[in-house]
Amino acid sequence: MVCNYIKLKNYRNIEDEEIVFDDGVNVLEGDNAQGKTNLIEAIYTFTTGKSFRAVKEADAIKFGEKEYLIEIGFKDSSRSDIQTLSVGVARGCRRKILLNGVKIDKLSEMIGCFRAVLFCPEHLSLIKEGPSMRRNYLDVAISQFRPVYLKSLQKYYAILEQRNKLIKNAEADFSTLKETINIWSEQLAHEAAFISHIRSRYVKKVEEAVAEYFCEMTDKKENVEMSYIGSSKQSPDEYEDIEAVEKRYKELLSSNIEREIAAGSTLWGIHKDDIEILINGKSARSFASQGQQRSLALAMKLAEGDICRYETGENPIFLLDDVLSELDERRRNFLLCSIKDRQVIISTCEKTYFATSKKIIVKNGEYIF
Ligand SMILES: Nc1ncnc2c1ncn2[C@@H]1O[C@H](COP(=O)(O)OP(=O)(O)OP(=O)(O)O)[C@@H](O)[C@H]1O
Ligand SMILES: [Mg+2]
Repeated sequence: MVCNYIKLKNYRNIEDEEIVFDDGVNVLEGDNAQGKTNLIEAIYTFTTGKSFRAVKEADAIKFGEKEYLIEIGFKDSSRSDIQTLSVGVARGCRRKILLNGVKIDKLSEMIGCFRAVLFCPEHLSLIKEGPSMRRNYLDVAISQFRPVYLKSLQKYYAILEQRNKLIKNAEADFSTLKETINIWSEQLAHEAAFISHIRSRYVKKVEEAVAEYFCEMTDKKENVEMSYIGSSKQSPDEYEDIEAVEKRYKELLSSNIEREIAAGSTLWGIHKDDIEILINGKSARSFASQGQQRSLALAMKLAEGDICRYETGENPIFLLDDVLSELDERRRNFLLCSIKDRQVIISTCEKTYFATSKKIIVKNGEYIF
């Protein structure tokens, strides 16, 4: 997959720009606060449907303006011509998305069209951070090639919200809870079983790729294991059997309601999941060195790209935001060597990294190439 160009109007500090990319390595070079991350943020919006750093979508509208409009042209193997995706956000209005000029109503119809892997300095904490970052890693990665997974996730979180409302309201309105909680629990268990089944399978694939990358990177024969830890506490083999997982979740959600009322929220479900990562049998989160944790995070990002290629038949685009300066020379070379045959867009403040690349100088929201 290749991103041919991006057009931006009133996006963050960018007034009106069109940037054309090469198929290989593209380097965004510039001082701090010039608009490097802003550009990567705009590109990645087409992958996940939202900004990876704006709290509200309207935050990305240029100060003093009413709306932003961004458009990319990209090529994949499904069509011979360039396809376009555009996203427009105006203050106080619904986001407008067009795929090849046709309006898209649901975000889930856009996700998976333009596939990219983002790697930024925060991802280097993927191992030591809390579980939500690892769940997000799974959700973003899987949604790229499995639209039904994304739909199930959206459904799950809508049901969870309703169920949590009932639980929070239990003291004031116990009769509504009694009448309806089972319906919500059953629906929640149904989605949770499907999602954990898919997540567990994905983690197995990630484990294989990560173990290989980690070995190559460290030159040492260390044993890396990764396993999916669902809140129903079943084994990877048990997660293969969706019906059995659904049954387990139904039991958990039907027999612990007093505990949930005391806690004020739903205590079992895929919103509590995690990935356990072990090096030589010891928890990487608790015992791995900072260098090992970084190598693992890097390997997980490379694995995300590999699995995406395996599932879709083509490489996603790699977006590296300021991450090279965070890596030592060995890891930096390893990363660049691992992704050398695909399109990469890299942002950096330093000037020396690449001889064979398209250089784009970023200055105050303008892009010169
Ligand atoms: N909505 C907005 N409207 C106008 N300017 C904005 C908006 N949001 C952020 N900016 C500006 O964009 C600039 C930051 O851009 P960006 O984060 O892309 O910098 P960068 O080049 O990645 O810098 P660094 O090297 O420090 O990461 C800041 O000057 C910030 O004030
Ligand atoms: Mg930046």
